[in-house]
Amino acid sequence: MKSLFNILVVSLLLALSSAYATPEQDKETFQNFYTEMFPDISLEGFGDGVYALDQDARDQWEAMNDFPPYEEDLEEGEELFNTPFSNGKTYANCFENDGKNIRQNYPLFDTKQNKVITLELAINNCRESNGEELLRYKKGEIAKLSAYMTYTSKDSLINVKTPDSKEALAAYEAGKQYYYSKRGQLNFSCANCHTQNAGRRARSETLSPALGHPTHFPVYRMKWAGFGTLQRRIDSCNKQVRAQPLSGQSEDYRNLEYFLTYMSNGLPINGPASRK
Ligand code: HEC
Repeated sequence: MKSLFNILVVSLLLALSSAYATPEQDKETFQNFYTEMFPDISLEGFGDGVYALDQDARDQWEAMNDFPPYEEDLEEGEELFNTPFSNGKTYANCFENDGKNIRQNYPLFDTKQNKVITLELAINNCRESNGEELLRYKKGEIAKLSAYMTYTSKDSLINVKTPDSKEALAAYEAGKQYYYSKRGQLNFSCANCHTQNAGRRARSETLSPALGHPTHFPVYRMKWAGFGTLQRRIDSCNKQVRAQPLSGQSEDYRNLEYFLTYMSNGLPINGPASRK
């Protein structure tokens, strides 16, 4: 088992370090790595993170979700979403399909601004174009709004695209590089924990596979007693390795989110979800 694991890791790292792989080829390699490592987990099962790996933890989690801890915040998200701005318009006016069932397409690459647009950035862009103050990123109202929008996408398959532009590809490659680069005083990359050691334990916690990471955000963490966006969760991981967390919607975080979500293309949205 161990040698098989090492072969898988080496072949994955080789494949991913190849400069010629397209995002689509990367995705195939990435997904095959996890499905071979965890043959008992279905592709969509990866969206449950550690609860796909640890039955005891899953039982507790399912019991907790009989009365989901996020219910009230989710309702608040819906209310915020439907509350008109002072000019009478609403979020629905800014988005395709009135903002419903679109989470699976984010982050998207905007070829006019040549940048990655996450759903949270799009929410603030919408506010700005309607003369409203910007919301603070990572938690609070923006996370509630985003959680409601995620909720309207339940079961839709993640469908992140890289348009045919060199800037889009560069953003994707930068995100990929962030994922595989070591950082912090502990000198760990995301891949060290969530690829090479997925399924193993770090201190008291099982490490989740990175496949499926973006399917269920924003997440309601008991530790936070509230919703947090994917970037807020990544802050926690950066702090764990004693690296400086980045500011919300910084270019590096947006590119990372773009890469990470592309790797989960084809998985169903199953958020918002609760975590410890
Ligand atoms: C030292 C190991 C370590 C490193 C390095 C690390 N993480 Fe984590 N991460 C964890 C642990 C522990 C958890 C909580 C258990 C779990 O869900 O994996 C976690 C949780 C997460 C989650 C939430 C999973 C879920 O199901 O909700 C995401 C997303 C995540 N990490 C992304 C990242 C990204 C992106 C990086 C690189 C910037 C990173 N992590 C670096 C240890 C690490």
